[in-house]
Amino acid sequence: MLRRKFNLKISISFLLITVLSIPAFAQGWDVPEAQKSKNSNVVFDAGATKEGESVFTKNCVSCHGNPGKGNFMKTLTPPPPDLAGDKTHNLTDGELFYILNTGRGVMPSFKNILSETDRWKAIAFIRSFHKGYVQVVSKTDPEKSKLVKINVSFDEKSNKVTVDVKANEKTGVVALKETEVSLFAKRRFGNLQIEKSGRTDANGVISFNFPKELPGDKEGNVELIVKISNEAYGEVESQSKMKLGIPTDVPSLTKERSMFNVMKKAPWWILITYFSGISIVIGFFIYMLLNLKKLFDLGKK
Ligand code: HEC
Repeated sequence: MLRRKFNLKISISFLLITVLSIPAFAQGWDVPEAQKSKNSNVVFDAGATKEGESVFTKNCVSCHGNPGKGNFMKTLTPPPPDLAGDKTHNLTDGELFYILNTGRGVMPSFKNILSETDRWKAIAFIRSFHKGYVQVVSKTDPEKSKLVKINVSFDEKSNKVTVDVKANEKTGVVALKETEVSLFAKRRFGNLQIEKSGRTDANGVISFNFPKELPGDKEGNVELIVKISNEAYGEVESQSKMKLGIPTDVPSLTKERSMFNVMKKAPWWILITYFSGISIVIGFFIYMLLNLKKLFDLGKK
């Protein structure tokens, strides 16, 4: 019976894994032309490769295994390729970068997990296994990202957050049109993305509908994170605090008694329930010992 249940569980897991990864059976990666030819600002030298190795060990080895060793997770469908292989070798840097950004099926999207530099360093590490590979370094100036100014505003009437992306060039202020913008609200555990990422209009502006009932801190402040990605200016991130949440008095994780308190301050009801449970067990044990002693004494008589 137990065996059958176990088999059933395995069959269901396999079925789920297969169904979930059906879209991933598509062969090859459909990478937009403009992304294919993208190159890295980061030079793939020994330093970048070494740092890429530690990025890879933390984020990729669990599935892909060590390049060239064939120790990838064979139970996944499709299996994560050994990244030292020819298939990966033949992808352009831009394609690799795109794959890391978007993910597919089981392969996660690393766009909001790793910084742009770390994504390129992971690719530097992968390239170190590709014989004959010669890097073409991007001609875009990494210093350009420092010129970007992100302005975030909130309109209470329409409940919209507007992001305005400009660059302070020497020749004057330039609106960054066609720039990908993602908006997040900082939460205690990870960030909550507000709507889908979108692209700025001709004035470098994009608006997001902000959810009405998002809890903020005591004053209703919510920390907003804006991430932009522009062809010429690279990726830039900005953080700002704004009063657009519902004021909520969340107990701090260290101050008061709360369920997930990290400072040994569990709520009283948990402590009382726990200790009464323990006392009953210990009490019962003592009661048994006493009775045993009685039996023992009786036997002696
Ligand atoms: C949860 C498992 C998992 C993790 C973690 C993961 N990948 Fe993947 N990756 C996959 C799977 C599965 C595929 C195949 C997806 C497909 O073909 O649809 C894949 C495909 C790829 C490809 C395409 C290779 C080719 O030749 O087609 C690259 C490149 C890649 N991953 C790089 C990375 C890097 C770099 C990391 C770490 C930053 C990473 N992956 C983390 C599972 C994973």
